[in-house]
Amino acid sequence: MVKKYKEMKEITQKDYLEFIKEHESVIIEDVEIKFQKNWKIKSYGPPNDYAPERTTVWSFPDRGNWATHKGNYRGNWSPYIPRNLILKYTQKGDWILDQMMGSGTTLVEAKLLERNAIGVDINLEAVMVARDRLNFSYNPLFPEYKEPIIKTYWGDARNLDKIDDESIDLIATHPPYASIISYTKNKKQNDDLSQLPFEKYLKEMRKVAEESFRVLKPGKICAILIGDTRKHKHYVPIAFRVMQAFLDAGFILKEDIIKLQWNMKTTRERWRAKEYEFYLIGHEHIFVFRKPESEKEYKKYKFSVRWWENGQI
Ligand SMILES: C[S@@+](CC[C@H](N)C(=O)[O-])C[C@H]1O[C@@H](n2cnc3c(N)ncnc32)[C@H](O)[C@@H]1O
Repeated sequence: MVKKYKEMKEITQKDYLEFIKEHESVIIEDVEIKFQKNWKIKSYGPPNDYAPERTTVWSFPDRGNWATHKGNYRGNWSPYIPRNLILKYTQKGDWILDQMMGSGTTLVEAKLLERNAIGVDINLEAVMVARDRLNFSYNPLFPEYKEPIIKTYWGDARNLDKIDDESIDLIATHPPYASIISYTKNKKQNDDLSQLPFEKYLKEMRKVAEESFRVLKPGKICAILIGDTRKHKHYVPIAFRVMQAFLDAGFILKEDIIKLQWNMKTTRERWRAKEYEFYLIGHEHIFVFRKPESEKEYKKYKFSVRWWENGQI
């Protein structure tokens, strides 16, 4: 029997305003997130010494707290990551998708950089947090700024039914990792990928990869941040298994970027790693995939997917 995934439901500014009339805050993964409603923004971008990354090792010790970025959504990614991806792979007016948007970090960056964007999350409360983070006007000191279109949906990354085939210019997303952080622990939510056991999670991530492939324009980029874990003191290569799911869906690999992790305090305490013989995992992967322009191009670059079959690299 084919499982039917939740359909996308648009959550508008009006829905958000109604929601915050009745809610001061939401609790996601044991963390209370207060709605700010009226943001007092000190800066609209990264520090003046910001320069785009040039190598395949990225490290952001200060995380980034400009605009409405607060870093208090469990598993949120540093705004430096979507900023780098957006600046490298898109133009103003392009369409960006984050189908597991959490607190909306990618969408805030898209808004600041004048890109249109679509955000989706399985957790309605996360969608409301994202809308709260988007609830600011750009500083009128920038009269040339053109407000982009930003749409948010309550939905499932495995069924992007309101998004047309080949309509997206960049996917930038940070999926949950199998059974590590549960985003909906308090309320059982079967569609939350973070609640699945490893092999089932990989199967479902393949569906995320297939939907990503469908909505992306040929030749364009799909970038995901994904990390690994340990079980019984040994390394579980979640990232490489997820990478394979995206390759199997038809993508080719452009970059494998190592992102250093700085905020490991709680993990370190939980693992009491000092008592064990293993190293603390201090990195994650940003896989940058490209959708081939055509079948012909896919065959040409197939070596990056199954180079051993061609006997060449
Ligand atoms: C690592 S967090 C993303 C954090 C985000 N990048 C940010 O900066 O806030 C992963 C998100 O995936 C969402 N999620 C889990 N399963 C999903 C599914 N099937 N479809 C869409 N979103 C899902 C979770 O609710 C969570 O918000």
